[in-house]
Amino acid sequence: MTQLPIDQRGAWRALATHAETMRGVHLRDLFAAATGRHAAYTRHAAGLTLDLSKQRWSDETFALLLDLAREAGLPEASRALLDGERVNVSEDRPALHTALRLPADASLVVEGEDLVPGVHATLDRMATMVERFHAGQWRGATGKAIRNVVNLGVGGSDLGPLMVTHALADYRPEGVHRIEVHFASTMDGSQLADYLSRLNPETTLFVLSSKSFTTIDTLSNARTARDWLMSRLGQEEGVDDGLVMRQHFIGVSASPEKMNDWGIAPDHQLEFWEWVGGRYSLWGGIGLPIALLVGMGNFRELLAGAHAMDRHFREAALADNLPVLLALAGIWNVNFLDIRAHSILPYDGRLEYFAAYLEQLEMESNGKSVTHDGREVGYSTCPVLWGQLGPNAQHAFYQLLHQGTQAVECDFIAPLVRYDDVTDEATRDHLMSQHRLTLANCFAQSRVLMLGDDAIEDDGPRPGHKRYRGNQPSTTVLLERLTPATLGALIALYEHKVFVQATIWEINPFDQWGVELGKKIAGETQRILESHQGLEAMDDSTRALIEAVWQAERA
Ligand code: F6P
Repeated sequence: MTQLPIDQRGAWRALATHAETMRGVHLRDLFAAATGRHAAYTRHAAGLTLDLSKQRWSDETFALLLDLAREAGLPEASRALLDGERVNVSEDRPALHTALRLPADASLVVEGEDLVPGVHATLDRMATMVERFHAGQWRGATGKAIRNVVNLGVGGSDLGPLMVTHALADYRPEGVHRIEVHFASTMDGSQLADYLSRLNPETTLFVLSSKSFTTIDTLSNARTARDWLMSRLGQEEGVDDGLVMRQHFIGVSASPEKMNDWGIAPDHQLEFWEWVGGRYSLWGGIGLPIALLVGMGNFRELLAGAHAMDRHFREAALADNLPVLLALAGIWNVNFLDIRAHSILPYDGRLEYFAAYLEQLEMESNGKSVTHDGREVGYSTCPVLWGQLGPNAQHAFYQLLHQGTQAVECDFIAPLVRYDDVTDEATRDHLMSQHRLTLANCFAQSRVLMLGDDAIEDDGPRPGHKRYRGNQPSTTVLLERLTPATLGALIALYEHKVFVQATIWEINPFDQWGVELGKKIAGETQRILESHQGLEAMDDSTRALIEAVWQAERA
């Protein structure tokens, strides 16, 4: 029997009715009505605390949302994901990023094959590579030890390693040959050109990171890098193209054939599997830059933290399950309170790239409008999600959060303790105080967003431009400390949140067909730009834009 769309079933309809009363309720009244709201809506797991008390919901909302999760078949869907069923239906394959963080003594048999030995064989190959770098034994074509590694990749082959290396830079191991890790992703070559102007080709190696190994952005950068190395090193005695290719390139991809065609030495390739989605891939070979920076021990800690969250996701009851609750808060806001903007606000400079990472994770996964069976959805899916470091955003877009016309859900993210390991006492005291200042701002902002004018003592009537409505919902995610393990758990928390929402919205979070048409049309446009032929097929605006380029080039 075919099921009715989710928005026509009982739990959704009950929520829609309930929302009619909740829409007019202010957060300040919810807090005034009940003591112990924090305890009622706060949960802990894997070194993380999730405080959902500042969501605009009540116990009844909470219970109805749990009904919705059950009615959407969430427990069965989660099991199907984690057990390796073909949950990515449009590409007919499993989505098994969680297998990448299973411990070596685990076993996960999928379609007759235990995946764990292969996963750990790749981790062991990564470990051997990292050891060579850290021993100063990975040498360039002229015999000098490699010092700079530039990751060439884009999207999931860039954002994860970029975000994590930035977040965990404090965890560089001591006493090893120091490797600097850089990232170049933009197809226009501007980031790469900057590195090429500064780095020494003799001591620079490029990691070509691309699941498909067909992404034009990455391959364009790779060609430029290869030509730079060849032209700079080609004149050195005893150096030929083969040696440069061998010593200065590592490939990470799901396509060994394409890496071979490009000339990557087979023993300098790290392969991964089609069942790992690009934006879920930092846990294996794509994470090589992370392991090069922080060492394999810390990389394995990152995996262990994510695995702890995977276990929690599998085992915890829905009402205590962090990814489930985070997802349900989002569903409540998007689908029932009409709040379709979501801001990610970390209060720790090390998480500078976390919002950019989540922009891909959430919007490329759930920016969909067609269900598994090809039906147009009749409700909103992924909200517009953006963010940046909270303290800096306070001086940029918080004005809109406080006094604009848009309702926005916010995630505040912060570690409780920082800098207590700084050895110089005076510096430690100053830095710890700066961290407390940061936390004070984090807590104050979520409070003002919640209470509005009620956050300040009544000082008489104020003009409209000094008034604050409040009632903006938020979640606070606290980490005991930002460590490889808690960061792993934090990322896995959001990965599973995305899956829970996709399950309720009945969409596939593991494909991204929406980006394909743009790539195809860009190829056609490039052919016209280069060949000066076929302009007549273009619309009036595109024709004029192309002609402007030709004119400027002639001038
Ligand atoms: O543009 C979409 C996308 O396919 C992402 O999903 C992916 O992370 C990125 O491009 C890079 O793809 P690849 O790793 O195959 O180069």
